[in-house]
Amino acid sequence: MSFEDLKPKVTLILTDKNDSITDRMQKVCQLLKDSIDYYDWVGFYFRNGDKEELVLRTYVGEKTDHTVIPFGKGICGQVAVSNKNFVVPDVQAQDNYIACSLTVKSEIVIPLFKNGENIGQIDIDSETPDPFTEQDERFLEFVNQEVAKIL
Ligand code: SME
Repeated sequence: MSFEDLKPKVTLILTDKNDSITDRMQKVCQLLKDSIDYYDWVGFYFRNGDKEELVLRTYVGEKTDHTVIPFGKGICGQVAVSNKNFVVPDVQAQDNYIACSLTVKSEIVIPLFKNGENIGQIDIDSETPDPFTEQDERFLEFVNQEVAKIL
């Protein structure tokens, strides 16, 4: 399914007030994983109050031990500090990387802004080497903007 076809589905899920906000985000994770063949793990991390750490709120894919990530650590922790998209074509080439699974080859992390503040991020792991393009970045920025609207 194309990103353009996915966008209205994402919006529909996120605006369904019959579900809790976390359940809606969970459904978006599932939709993305099911629809894009190189998305193997999809999750949302958020800043833990005033602490300089991220907490995993919801995800689909292999179970992970990394439910709390300090700012600055790993790809996720770096994005919490940089406020910038981080596309990793080859995770093995990264020094500051937290491995969740040995099968993961690449990763993309896009910060999520609410009122201009970096409050969290969407994180996607892929078992395909170097699959992410600017189209993924634009699409995931859209997803995060839609999530921000309901937070
Ligand atoms: N690889 C991430 C850790 C989170 S897992 O991908 C679920 C990182 O380096 O921050």
